[in-house]
Amino acid sequence: MKKIGVFTSGGDAPGMNACIRAVVRNACKNNLEVVGIYNGYDGLVDANLETLTTSNVANIIQLGGTILKSSRSKRFRTPDGRKMAYDTIKQHQIDGLVCIGGDGSYAGALAFNKEFGVPVVGCPGTIDNDIYGTDFTIGFDTAVNTAMQAIDKIRDTAESHHNVFFVEVMGRHSGYIALYAGLAGGAEMILMPETKGEFEKLIEVFENKQKRKKQFSIIIVAEGDEEGNALQVAAKFKQAFPTSEPKVTVLGHIQRGGPPSVNDRILASSLGSAAVECLLNNKRQVALGLVNNQLQLTALEMAIQEKKEINPQLIQLAKILST
Ligand code: F6P
Repeated sequence: MKKIGVFTSGGDAPGMNACIRAVVRNACKNNLEVVGIYNGYDGLVDANLETLTTSNVANIIQLGGTILKSSRSKRFRTPDGRKMAYDTIKQHQIDGLVCIGGDGSYAGALAFNKEFGVPVVGCPGTIDNDIYGTDFTIGFDTAVNTAMQAIDKIRDTAESHHNVFFVEVMGRHSGYIALYAGLAGGAEMILMPETKGEFEKLIEVFENKQKRKKQFSIIIVAEGDEEGNALQVAAKFKQAFPTSEPKVTVLGHIQRGGPPSVNDRILASSLGSAAVECLLNNKRQVALGLVNNQLQLTALEMAIQEKKEINPQLIQLAKILST
């Protein structure tokens, strides 16, 4: 192994830059040449890459986003696109890849490896925390802190105006952001894909609340909840309580931005550095993670196929504390 490539793919996540930095720095320490590939898989298809040295990654550990940019490449999903990507690999004599991204990016890496045998190691970069084989993904901690801070602010105005707020958080099909932000933000109810029947429960709670005359509420809605998005849930709520004036806040992409938290910087640095060791030690087609603070290697295939379960004790805790 003489030369490796690193790229970020899918939705950006705070900490991706810290991960790139760790890959580059540990690779340079081991006398490997590193190329940064721009725009995710599109950069492989277009041969859009440049050599990175230790000094190129100075002063980026604190930056959100990704200096290598990202994409959800449509071309790489086609056999022709992957062939072009492989031509780039051959032409630039790249011996291995570090892919920083979510499960869609991992699926691309696996397909590429199966077709062309290119060694690849995955670092879990996504705010969704939906990747099997790691307790937390790079970006999740920052995203939930951002969501929690927003909820704290919404709480001030909700309380002042006696409002019911439906706050929508990201997470795609996963309720991790909803659960953590909801618990930390003291939400009254958390609607997320992993649990069912919360809307009926919500109606019940509000019927009692009307009796209790509690006057404001914050309800977290995961974007992937089966009841629909926050606007749809708020509309159903209004039907059930016609005199109510529910408010909706969609937190959206602010959850993806901003400087990474301490946890994300350390996680990203650990995994980025470990990815280089894996390539050097012939551990390939693996996804990296930290489980109970220990480095864990999971076969890429398994990391894609297995569903990461949400902690049932935290779901229970949220139920207990919201009453
Ligand atoms: O996977 C990260 C994520 O932010 C999800 O939480 C969300 O569903 C999706 O990406 C949004 O993607 P885009 O920015 O392409 O709309």
